[in-house]
Parts: sequence; structure tokens; C-alpha cells
Amino acid sequence: MNQIINIKKPDQILEVVRKEGFMIIDDVINLKLLSELQNFWIEFFSKKNIKAFNSRNIYGNSQMLGDVNFNSSRKEKSVLLLRNRQYLWNTPIHKPTVEIANQINKYRNLTLGLPEDEAFTYSESRQSNFTQVNCYPDQGHMFEHRDTKSDKVLLSCMFNITFKGSHFEEGGLFLRIDEKKINIDDLIKPGSVMFYNGNLKHGVDQISSKAEIGRIAGYPMRQFFLNSDYPNYFKFLNQAHISIRRRLGISSKAQGNSSLV
Ligand SMILES: [Fe+2]
Repeated sequence: MNQIINIKKPDQILEVVRKEGFMIIDDVINLKLLSELQNFWIEFFSKKNIKAFNSRNIYGNSQMLGDVNFNSSRKEKSVLLLRNRQYLWNTPIHKPTVEIANQINKYRNLTLGLPEDEAFTYSESRQSNFTQVNCYPDQGHMFEHRDTKSDKVLLSCMFNITFKGSHFEEGGLFLRIDEKKINIDDLIKPGSVMFYNGNLKHGVDQISSKAEIGRIAGYPMRQFFLNSDYPNYFKFLNQAHISIRRRLGISSKAQGNSSLV
């Protein structure tokens, strides 16, 4: 594959994230390419496309190997966001975004000491990498949470497509480290990639965006998937089961993935 991003010394990432909680690496994504991403995703998440986001399944409950790419959104007290997921087995809706996310996922594999193609190939573990793009529009936000209940480090990664100061004025992603709140969108520059511990408390403070663009960011993801031979009613029941457990505060069994170290 064409190398379109460049991260020097990927072997140091895990050590820094263990120690500091996060690591921002500047000058990773070419700025011309980044403006291509901005043009595509600002239009994609614009108000006239809002009908495409009517699924409420933002957590991807019961996602299966072979699923189609999909959009979702939630508008409630604890969360207001729009989300797009592109899976490896489908034609990407925006190829450069998927290529960037795939390459960051490969760097994550290297820093975790895993084979470069971990979760890019089908295996019994049913993990797969994929590309997620989130938009927190004007007034968008996400409640403070940890991604799993494990005490280990969950090596997560993210790259901004829009930026505080250019596309939105207030709010943004924060990490809470030793009770200190760190506003990540004040530190991120165009072209930066961030690695962070998804098991630290984090959330998104309410966005204010006069241009009604909001905060758009790409997330190279890795999650578990169900085998595709389950019938649809199973998918429905499993989804209901997971949301009941979540409401009762009981965590799902398969939390985390091979990024948990
Ligand atoms: Fe999270």
C-alpha cells in the first residue's frame, strides 16, 4: 500500500501513553490531503443530509462481519453526535480517509508488538479494524466515560478533520488525567494524530460552531463482530439484551480487544 502518512518511532507510543495518558504526534497527515477530507466530511454531515443518520445504534451493538457501512446519530441529554462507520469488506465512501485510518491502525499494531496486519485478516477472534468518523455538530457533546471497565491501557487513536478556532469556537474532546481536565482540541494541530488511553475518563464538552460545521474527527477502530450466520431476530434480541445490561450498569462480556494491554 502507498504510504500516505508517516509516524516516526512508533515503538515509543505505548510507553508515552502509559506514562502520560496520551501522545499527540504533529505533521502526520499531509495538509492538502486533510483539506480533501474536510471538503468531503463537512458536506457529508451537513444539515441537508441529516435524514441519512436515522439509526440510533451509535454503539454498533450486534455488528456482524459482512455488515454494510452505516450511519447513526443520537440526540439526547448525555450525547449528541452523528457517526459514520466504514468496514473493511465494503467499498469505502471516502477512500483517503479509510487509507489514513488503516495506516494508523497498522502503526498501533506495531507499537503493541502485534503483526502489522492484526485485525485486517479474518481470524477466530472475530476482531476487525474499521474506520469511524464522528461529527459533534453545533451543541454536540458526549458524556464523560471510560471505554471499558478494565484497569489496563486501551490504546486508542484519533485524528481531527475540523479544528477549534477554524470550524468551531467552544468545547471539544477532553481527557481527565489525575483529576486534571486536559482540553485536547486546544492542543491538536492540522495534520496531528493522537494516541490515548481510552480507559481514562474522557468526553466531549458542548461544541459551539457559528459556521454549523462542528467537530469532525476520524477514529481508526477495532472491535469484536458477530459471525454473519446469525438470523436477524438474534441480532435484534442481542441488541435489546446489551441495552438492558447497559441500563442496569452490567458491562458486556467482550469488552476491549487486542488494543488492551
Ligand atoms: Fe470513548
